[in-house]
Amino acid sequence: MEPVKTHEPNQWLEPIHAIVYTTLTIHGIAKVSFSHITWAINHLFCVHQLPVLKDAPMKKPPAMNKNTSSDFKKITETQKKTWSAGDFNQIARQNWMMGEALCAAADLRPGQRVLDVACGSGTAALVAERRYCEVTGLDYVPELIDRARLRAEANGQEARFIVGDAQDLPFPDNSFDVILSVYGVQFAPDQQKAADEMLRVCKPGGTIALAGPVPRGWSGDFFAAHARYNPPPPGIPSPLDWGTEDGIRKLLGAGCSSIDCSNRVSIQYYHSADHAVEVFSRWFGPTIIASEKLPGPEYDSLLEDLKNVFEKYNQADDGTAAVENIYLQVLAEVK
Ligand SMILES: C[S@@+](CC[C@H](N)C(=O)[O-])C[C@H]1O[C@@H](n2cnc3c(N)ncnc32)[C@H](O)[C@@H]1O
Repeated sequence: MEPVKTHEPNQWLEPIHAIVYTTLTIHGIAKVSFSHITWAINHLFCVHQLPVLKDAPMKKPPAMNKNTSSDFKKITETQKKTWSAGDFNQIARQNWMMGEALCAAADLRPGQRVLDVACGSGTAALVAERRYCEVTGLDYVPELIDRARLRAEANGQEARFIVGDAQDLPFPDNSFDVILSVYGVQFAPDQQKAADEMLRVCKPGGTIALAGPVPRGWSGDFFAAHARYNPPPPGIPSPLDWGTEDGIRKLLGAGCSSIDCSNRVSIQYYHSADHAVEVFSRWFGPTIIASEKLPGPEYDSLLEDLKNVFEKYNQADDGTAAVENIYLQVLAEVK
């Protein structure tokens, strides 16, 4: 099946989803999940051959999740605001190395249909495009998608970037040969839904290639510092669940014929540990939100803790910072 060549269906479908969902909730129609309604509406548009899902026979609606979808939706909205704060593009310079390594590990070939889930300003997507892949990047922060488009245009690269949610991918089944995500899909609160969506849109025999945070090392300590001062809502699974082989097998195992997990190292470079903290406090959404929420002394204390984390993993001895980041690289073949 040809990939769908449309742009940002969610920009106009989202309000319809929201209205239908709210109406059903108000009328007390019990336990209908947002994703089922999404599926129903998408199916409706499919039947009427509107461009969004042209040629797109949808698979059955996704399985119900024990947690309520409205909880996930609320949390997703809050998280979206967090990632919209600051400018992740400024932080993303540290992610290029992982994007390059991931595209090499997935052995991307020209012409392959590649989706970068939670692409931010296009880190892995633009690497894949350099291999002449047919690339789509998706993220729910419109400003980052705008930035990704600008970067592609400035580089003379051809990629499509669309606004959307990793938990509700606006693509037909089996649309892609390879799914990439670098420190991205791991943040979706409905982890199983996000995993199922990647499995759904990846063709059988295709590859899901992930780079993500691990519980130990810089990522684990860095996330733990934020969680100490600004704890996540109770009951929400940690992104670090994606950072162990066990966690990956729970999320992706049923849909994959093989899964290869390996710990990798990338290095982040800054003028100094102080400069690293300055970069994050200026540009990184979660740190900015913490600055808005926390009383001054607590925020100062968070920054002190972050500095300690950067110093702990700094391998440079010339006053600069070369911070070791161990991450999990996953290559999973879809059944
Ligand atoms: C740490 S940044 C990584 C961005 C990019 N992958 C990179 O390596 O530069 C996390 C990204 O995930 C996006 N994100 C988080 N949850 C998402 C979701 N449910 N759907 C779409 N994007 C999401 C955020 O907007 C943000 O751009």
